[in-house]
Amino acid sequence: MYETITPQEIQAGRQALLGGNVGGSTNLIVRDVQGSTVYDMEGNAYLDCTSQAWSMNIGLKHPKVIKAVQEQAAMFSHIRTSFDTVPKLLLAKKLTELAPGNLKKVAFALHGGNAIEGAMKIALRNKDNSTKFITMYDGYHGRTFATMNMCWPHPNNIFLNWMNSAVRVPQAYCYRCPFNREYGSCGLECANFIDMAVNKAVDGPPAALIMETIQGNGGMIEYPKEFYQAIRQICDRHAMVLIWDEIQTGFGRPGTYFSSERYDTVPDIIVFGKALGGGYPIAGMLVNENLKSFAPGDQSFTFAHFPISMAASVATLEVMEEENICGQFREKGIYLTKRLKQMQEKYEIIGDVRGPGLMIGIELVKDRKTKEPFCKAEQYMVSEGLKRGLMLGGNKYLDMGNVVKIKPPAVVTYDELDKVLTIFEGLIKDCEAMRNK
Ligand SMILES: Cc1ncc(COP(=O)(O)O)c(C=O)c1O
Repeated sequence: MYETITPQEIQAGRQALLGGNVGGSTNLIVRDVQGSTVYDMEGNAYLDCTSQAWSMNIGLKHPKVIKAVQEQAAMFSHIRTSFDTVPKLLLAKKLTELAPGNLKKVAFALHGGNAIEGAMKIALRNKDNSTKFITMYDGYHGRTFATMNMCWPHPNNIFLNWMNSAVRVPQAYCYRCPFNREYGSCGLECANFIDMAVNKAVDGPPAALIMETIQGNGGMIEYPKEFYQAIRQICDRHAMVLIWDEIQTGFGRPGTYFSSERYDTVPDIIVFGKALGGGYPIAGMLVNENLKSFAPGDQSFTFAHFPISMAASVATLEVMEEENICGQFREKGIYLTKRLKQMQEKYEIIGDVRGPGLMIGIELVKDRKTKEPFCKAEQYMVSEGLKRGLMLGGNKYLDMGNVVKIKPPAVVTYDELDKVLTIFEGLIKDCEAMRNK
């Protein structure tokens, strides 16, 4: 089909698509992928710093995952959730071994939003009289009806009225502190505010607080370590379930399997997705074994037990160990961040460079002092970058859209990173010129 598709079929196919996806279409038709590179139908190469929605941590096409998938596909593909399969059991065992603390129970889904909803259901099962959820400003947890209500509300979002909204509280976004304080002397005012909000701004006891450990769509925001620990204490004090959305941070990108390793604290539920399947759809949750589980039928989906994705996930976890994926993310992240911070000294429009690992966000501003967001620069860099063979991530969040993301797979080479930096610097120079016009 790749060889025979006609221009008419391409046009008809495009016209038939309903749309609704983030980012719109780029007109790029993917023909092949390799390592960290995507090839289009004309054979043009693009260095992928999006890891295809931050999902392909071990590379865009890993031979070990292909082999596992081919073997499993030749045996059987879909099995009802009532039966077990070897990939399901091996994956459940491995994940609970990797999980921090006593998160020793696991459930699976096919999409992150679906898994977040599962975690919300567990919270409601455990907090009988609670119906409220607390989430962070600028958080992102998916596009199902319930998860849309857990996110930053996109302007004019007509779907929000349909369900209960979450109570949103400020996150520790130190570059633009919601309280105009400086980290170090702020006494974590944001955490104190959250504590107060749980008491005063919520009708009745909340069931859970849901947060990403590093805000991805929200603009690549990692919080100070004490913030995570303060949130844990707030949840304990108010008997709320703490749900960490690790759909982007899980399985290596910041340099660890899970965020507990970085912040020395453990949530009650971790929701995972994206990278685990090595390119095959899988998501799920790791749950504190002391929490009450689902009742029969609470969380049942036809394809939630998908042995092909599970075999791919077992292979992905093996690759993570064999190729020291976390270490690669850490080391390459240090290299790239250091070079970007050097660039920051030269170019006024680079307001902030944020890591960790290869979870990098560069916040663009028109002026370092006023921090006025430079959204046009972000749009230019993403679209012009593509023309120059570089896939960069952008963001529509923070009411701004001025953060460019560099999040390639861990297997990206140092030569490729140098190429990324060269193209990136060229784009920054263009934007500096735009600003001065
Ligand atoms: C942090 C976070 N949570 C939830 C989701 C939703 O996952 P999915 O698109 O698989 O439903 C995403 C997807 O981008 C995400 O980044």
